Amino acid sequence: VETLEEIRSDLGECIRCGLCEGRKNIVFGVGNPEADLVIVGEAPGREEDIKAEPFVGRSGQLLNRMLEAIGLSREDIYICNVIKCRPPENRNPTPAEVETCEPFLIRQLKSLRPKVILAMGKFAAQTLLQTEERISRIRGNFHEYHGIPVMPTFHPAYLLRNQSQKRVVWEDLQKVHQVLGLGPLPSSAREGP
Ligand code: URA
Repeated sequence: VETLEEIRSDLGECIRCGLCEGRKNIVFGVGNPEADLVIVGEAPGREEDIKAEPFVGRSGQLLNRMLEAIGLSREDIYICNVIKCRPPENRNPTPAEVETCEPFLIRQLKSLRPKVILAMGKFAAQTLLQTEERISRIRGNFHEYHGIPVMPTFHPAYLLRNQSQKRVVWEDLQKVHQVLGLGPLPSSAREGP
């Protein structure tokens, strides 16, 4: 199996799609290569593009609080996106961009072989599960990606706009926590993030 370094090196200074023209940095992914939990998001935003790291903006801060609530920190997990370069004005990735970039995600997941994948938002969930089903229909239950349980849930950017949905995401995260076999939730976490 390839290492993450080998995959990153093959990606190189990628010019496989037009997003290379507007990006500052490629955001490949960060974290523990031995992680039991891999989180997949959509695409880098402004902050991520600048720092070359996924989920460092407002969504990332919310994600950190959600992870803390199940007793995990960023060092425990691996985190990446379907798309490695920032789409201009944070527009949605096009199907062609997803198709071009997805092979690198597939190779990352093959290298990582986590116990569980948390797919955040429509693009991550639909790409991994090869479905057109709406995120609101598929979230909350485990699906499968090459034998690995996948929990689709809402994207933290959506939660920032729709606070009332935090509750169901908290339920989804509790299921992930359970499958990870981490024992009882930290006592500070009963109320959720
Ligand atoms: N949203 C994402 O989907 N990914 C990031 O890295 C940041 C925000």
